[in-house]
Amino acid sequence: MSASYLDAITVRRSNYALTNKSSVSDEKLQNIIKHAVKHCPTPFNSQTSRVILVTGATHIKLWEAVIGALLPMIPEGNTWTHFAGLLDLHKGGYGSVMFFEDQAIVDGIIQKQPFVANQFPDWNKNAAGILHATIWTAFSLEGLAATLQHPPLTAEMIAGLNLGFDVPSTWKSTAILPFGDPAAPPKEKTFSPVEDRFKVAKS
Ligand SMILES: Cc1cc2nc3c(=O)[nH]c(=O)nc-3n(C[C@H](O)[C@H](O)[C@H](O)COP(=O)(O)O)c2cc1C
Repeated sequence: MSASYLDAITVRRSNYALTNKSSVSDEKLQNIIKHAVKHCPTPFNSQTSRVILVTGATHIKLWEAVIGALLPMIPEGNTWTHFAGLLDLHKGGYGSVMFFEDQAIVDGIIQKQPFVANQFPDWNKNAAGILHATIWTAFSLEGLAATLQHPPLTAEMIAGLNLGFDVPSTWKSTAILPFGDPAAPPKEKTFSPVEDRFKVAKS
């Protein structure tokens, strides 16, 4: 029973070669995201994750804002010379899935249960990662190219998108998944030996 799930996680890859097209309909993209948001687990079933799907002009505006904010942060002589080019690749995609975690819920739980105050923020980040991976995998299975990005998104940048609804200031950005039909297959991936990474203790 697990074979198709394990195959699915193998299909998920970072593919930066995006086109501005999507052979997957907007309705299907939305249904994938809704299903993942509903069913991905969260600590104490806190259901903290929030997602915004942006496409078209809003997707381009998002990446222009990110490029405008990030490029001045790169110090002179930085060796990541390919970084600016990568940002342009994200902007060249069909759309972006914007991920958030609602810190109002996180703070409320910590207030009610101070004994988990140290750990709960980490568990919350784990929940965010599960959702990222689930949507990334589902999009890959649909044949889309995508990567997981972590630009610092400010409230001003989000307000500048003119989304048509308010994004509460408590929604903390956790990642952005730019995606589109692939312009090329993903690059070859290398693996360190699994034997070094997994042990069994038999009793
Ligand atoms: C938690 C996490 C954060 C990541 N952050 C970034 C990122 O900010 N930018 C990026 O280009 N790739 C990011 N990646 C992608 C990894 O570099 C990539 O998953 C890894 O090299 C393995 O390649 P694969 O995704 O093709 O399997 C991230 C991956 C994970 C799991």
